[in-house]
Parts: sequence; C-alpha cells; structure tokens
Amino acid sequence: MNAPFATVLRNASESISDHAPLIDPFGREISYVRVSVTDRCDFRCVYCMSEDMNFLPKQDLLSLEELDRLCSAFVARGTRKLRITGGEPLVRRNIMSLFRSLARHLDSGALNELTVTTNGSQLARHANELASCGVRRINVSLDTRDPDKFRAVTRWGDLNQVLAGIDAAQAAGLAVKINMVALKGVNDDEILPMLRWAHGRGMDLTLIEVMPLGAIETERTSQYLPLTEVEAALRQELTMRPLTYSTGGPARYLEVIETGGRLGLITPLTHNFCESCNRVRVTCTGTLYMCLGQEDAADLRTPLRASASDALLNEAIVAAIARKPKGHDFIIDREHDTPAVPRHMSVTGG
Ligand SMILES: C[S@@+](CC[C@H](N)C(=O)[O-])C[C@H]1O[C@@H](n2cnc3c(N)ncnc32)[C@H](O)[C@@H]1O
Ligand code: SF4
Repeated sequence: MNAPFATVLRNASESISDHAPLIDPFGREISYVRVSVTDRCDFRCVYCMSEDMNFLPKQDLLSLEELDRLCSAFVARGTRKLRITGGEPLVRRNIMSLFRSLARHLDSGALNELTVTTNGSQLARHANELASCGVRRINVSLDTRDPDKFRAVTRWGDLNQVLAGIDAAQAAGLAVKINMVALKGVNDDEILPMLRWAHGRGMDLTLIEVMPLGAIETERTSQYLPLTEVEAALRQELTMRPLTYSTGGPARYLEVIETGGRLGLITPLTHNFCESCNRVRVTCTGTLYMCLGQEDAADLRTPLRASASDALLNEAIVAAIARKPKGHDFIIDREHDTPAVPRHMSVTGG
C-alpha cells in the first residue's frame, strides 16, 4: 500500500533537512569536524595538561558506536573531513573499530578525508591498520628531538617510541605532518634543525603558538613565543615563499625554497584566522564546541541517547551551528596570564 501523502511529505522534508549543509550565521559552511575520543593521554605535556589531571569517569564518555553515529550525522550534513583526536586518541581501547566503521564514508565518497592527530606513542602498532582504513595523512606532535627535553616536556614520554611510530607511519605510506608547539626557552633553538629534519624526510612541519587553554603549573607568558619572531629568524637562514595551499585549517603555509618542503604557521595570537573557520569540535562526552576559544557549547549526548533516530541530534546540531561565534579573542600578556577558557586542549581536542 502506498504511504499516505502527508507521511511521504514529512519523510521527504526530514531527509532533506537532515542532509542540508550546515551554514553558520556568518555564511561559513561547516565541513570539518574534529572529534576528541578520549580526554586521557599517556603523556602530560607541560603546556597542555597539569601533572595531576582529573580525567572523566568512563561512563561519561560516548561509546565508540555513539561516536560513529555522531560523526555519521555530521557527514550526512556535509562534513567532508573528520579528524580523530584527544587526549591521545590511540590510547582509547579498541579505537581501531571506530576507524574501521568510519571508513565506509570514505568508500561511499561522502567523506574526503579521515585523519588523526597523535602523539605518536602508539603509532608503531597502529600505522598499518590506519592506512588500510583509508587514512592518508596524519599529524604527529613532536616538540623536540632531544630525548631529555622530550621527557621533560611530556613529563615522562619516550622519544624513541615516537620516532619508531613515525618510521612505521611512513613505511605504511601515510603522509606525516609534524606539529611543533613553539616554546620560549625550551625548543626555540630546535626549530631550524626540526625543519631540516622533517623536510629531509618528506614531512611538512607546522609550528603552533601556545594557546591559553586550561590551568597548568607554568605561567603562559613564560612559554609564549610569537611566531612572528620565529618567522623573522627563519628568514635570516632560509628563503620562504607564501603558498595558497590549505588543508582547510587555520595554518598559513610557506614553501621553503632550500628544502622544497612546507612550513605551516598556526598563529591564533598574532594572526586571527577566524574569518575562514569551517570547523567545529566535539568532545568525548558529546559536547559540541563551536569555537576553540569560546565557552559556548551544545550537549549532543542527550539527544543522541534520547532516541534511536537522529532527528533530535540533528535539531541540536543545527541549533548549535546557528550560534557559532564570529571568532575568539585569545590574548597572552602580563595582564592576561589566566586561561582564556578554562578547559584544556586535551578536553576540546587539539
Ligand atoms: C591536544 S593534542 C591531542 C592529540 C595528541 N595527543 C597530540 O599530542 O597530538 C593536539 C595538539 O594540540 C597541541 N596543544 C595542546 N595544548 C596546547 C596549547 N595550550 N597551545 C597550543 N597547542 C596545544 C599539541 O601540541 C598537539 O599538537
Ligand atoms: S599535547 Fe597531546 S600528548 Fe601532550 S598531553 Fe596533550 S593530549 Fe597528551
């Protein structure tokens, strides 16, 4: 029997609105979602976490199936790029099952890119499987190649484990980009050697300014190294040309003529990048943050758990995107040494 006309109409309008692209009030289309799958980590980087972090109780976390549903709801509404992050995403138990199931969106062509940001500690055992799930590029965070400094910055990390992870990733055919947070008095002298090392291995390097997120033991002003200074110093040694290349993120890219490699600069403090922001972030508890630097957030876990259909979830997502702010206003100076937002990067997902 044919379905009543009203039902057909409702189903049609539901499926159209469930698939309509997400456009914020400033006309920016949201096509990039970063999903933090855990707030836990096997490191405690000094700029990211305090030494005695309180982690969330496990029952507050979305299950891997719920994370899949949530990611898939975004993909249905035009998300083209998903980045799995954390905390350290590769320490979450059975995390590969999430990559395996999300791979179907790459196969269908709905998703352009599935990627991950990792500290590299568990990469050696996961690199091959990531590649077989359709992951093509990954970001590995590495602030120093000095084993003692590495241990000090991460509080107890083993540099060799990360280097072995990078080797495994490259051997598996993954393109690796190195993320390095520029830390005054800690790794400023290593930026040029890191660039030469990364480019020598065919890896891009992105430098990140330390951002005022979450309470930590050290004063932010003592860590903050403006990338304008770094860029000026690098220009004494290297010839660099601006590139129009973009990964859909906030990095500004330069081509380094001497090495043929790319240098990315993420400068939330010295250079505001909000006007082209196409991204949102979801935490491991299903909280949607529309801006890394603002407190406003939407609870997606309640609508997700309230029904097996995605209608409530979709409504909550649309309402949240309608509140995406124009931008952030991070400042670090002597008068502003407290966090701009109280949550750590490891909560929101870097
Ligand atoms: C929060 S981590 C999560 C993924 C993974 N654990 C890692 O380290 O790559 C993501 C990125 O955020 C960076 N990060 C963490 N806290 C930061 C801060 N306060 N300012 C700038 N970058 C930060 C890290 O260096 C890392 O590159
Ligand atoms: S930056 Fe990444 S590796 Fe370091 S403590 Fe934060 S989440 Fe862990």
